[in-house]
Amino acid sequence: MLVETALQLLPATPAKVLDLGTGSGAIALALASERPAWQITAVDRVLEAVALAERNRQRLHLNNASVLNSHWFSALQGQVYDLIISNPPYIADNDPHLVAGDVRFEPASALVAGHDGLDDLRQIIKEAPAHLNAGGRLLLEHGYDQAGAVRDLLSSAGFEDVHSRIDLGGHERISLGRRPC
Ligand SMILES: C[S@@+](CC[C@H](N)C(=O)[O-])C[C@H]1O[C@@H](n2cnc3c(N)ncnc32)[C@H](O)[C@@H]1O
Repeated sequence: MLVETALQLLPATPAKVLDLGTGSGAIALALASERPAWQITAVDRVLEAVALAERNRQRLHLNNASVLNSHWFSALQGQVYDLIISNPPYIADNDPHLVAGDVRFEPASALVAGHDGLDDLRQIIKEAPAHLNAGGRLLLEHGYDQAGAVRDLLSSAGFEDVHSRIDLGGHERISLGRRPC
């Protein structure tokens, strides 16, 4: 849904796109494959994830994507984008889902974000405006019960056209906003 929404937001003409917390590179590499004219930067704080995403990038011959090690925007000083997309950690540290089902096999660094699950979303939303061109979009995945809080954070940070979209399960699972022109 994040990828489909990103493809709808921007035309297929040249654009700069940033994927924060890329993991295996699934989002960044899908976008690079679908939109050869876009220049995609993918970052992750975990070195093993950076190496895996880079291996996948090479295996798929996607020369319009690059993969970097960065703690959110730390390695991106002065860089601005037309679209920033992220599926960051957003689970609260005491959430019972962490010890159940398939989630228990995932590293905590990919999932957990403080007492309410919003620590990383807060940081990304706060820092994103400095890295967006005027009119640029921030597109975020979050938990099924976090849409209202994420919309509030986006509005407080000055984003316009703030709204959420509903996934196939009927949950508001992504939210987005536009940096004012
Ligand atoms: C929920 S996973 C998403 C992975 C991938 N984007 C996807 O959708 O399949 C969150 C990712 O964010 C990364 N991450 C966590 N904290 C980070 C930080 N401070 N800076 C950059 N990446 C971070 C994790 O290593 C993990 O790969």
